[in-house]
Amino acid sequence: MSGNERLIKSKKRVQQHGEVFTPKEIVDAMVSLPGLNESIVQYSTMVLEPSVGEGAFLINILERRLQLLADKFPEDLVKFENFALLAISSLYGIELLEDNVKKCVINLYVAFFDFYKNFAAKLNKAPKANVLESAKTITAINIVQGDFLKRTKNDGRQIVLSEWNPLQIKRNTKHIKVIRTEYTLEDIYHNIKIEPGTVYTPVPETKQLGLFDDQPDVLPLPVYRYLPVNIVDVYKQEMEEIDS
Ligand SMILES: C[S@@+](CC[C@H](N)C(=O)[O-])C[C@H]1O[C@@H](n2cnc3c(N)ncnc32)[C@H](O)[C@@H]1O
Repeated sequence: MSGNERLIKSKKRVQQHGEVFTPKEIVDAMVSLPGLNESIVQYSTMVLEPSVGEGAFLINILERRLQLLADKFPEDLVKFENFALLAISSLYGIELLEDNVKKCVINLYVAFFDFYKNFAAKLNKAPKANVLESAKTITAINIVQGDFLKRTKNDGRQIVLSEWNPLQIKRNTKHIKVIRTEYTLEDIYHNIKIEPGTVYTPVPETKQLGLFDDQPDVLPLPVYRYLPVNIVDVYKQEMEEIDS
C-alpha cells in the first residue's frame, strides 16, 4: 500500500456500509490474474462492479484498455478516440453512497482525460471537446447510485443502466456508431431482451379508485427512442418521439 492512500473514511461508514477501499497494489494484482486479465482488457467486455466505491477496479481496467488501444493504433488518433470511448462505455458501477458515486465518476473521467491528453500530445494534437464531453456523459450515466441488493435506487425507483451497442465494427472501422438502450437492473437479472434504442419509461403509479369516483383522464406519456449516433457525439443524447 502506498503511503498516501486513504482506505477508510470513518469507523461509522465501515460499520454501516462495509466501506473499506482496496489498495491499488491489490487491485492491480487481482486484475492481473491470468484468465481474468485477457478478457477484462477487451474494450467490448462488459464489467459491472456492484459496490464500486470510488472506482479503484474500474480505473485500473480502463487504464489497461487505453494502453492496449494506444499500442494498437499508435499513429491514429481518430481510431484511438472511437475505441477508447467504447472501452469506457462497457464499464459500469453501482454504489450506495452519493459522495462515492461522485468521486467515482470524476476518477474515471480524469483517468480517461489524462491518458487521452498524453496520447494526443505524442501526435502533436489536442483532445477534442466532443470526445471529452462524450466520455463525461457515458461515465455519469454508467455509474449509478443505488442499492445493488435491493436492485433499486435510494428512493425506491428502478436502477437503469445503458447499453452502448456498436452497430458494425469491421477491421478498418474508424468512426463507430452506437445505439443506446436502457435496461433496468431487474431486466438484466431476468435476462430480458430490450428493443435497441429503448428509453426506459417508468410505469406510472396507479391509484385505487372508489366505487363512485370519476375515472381520471389519463394522457398517454410520450415514448422516445435513442437514435444511432457516432460514439464521439453521444453527449448530445439524441432521441426521437415514437408512436406509443
Ligand atoms: C468494501 S467497499 C469496496 C469499494 C471498492 N469496490 C473498492 O474495492 O475499493 C464496499 C462499497 O460498497 C458500498 N455498498 C455497501 N452496500 C451497498 C449496496 N447494498 N449496494 C451498493 N453499494 C453498496 C459501500 O458504500 C462501499 O463503497
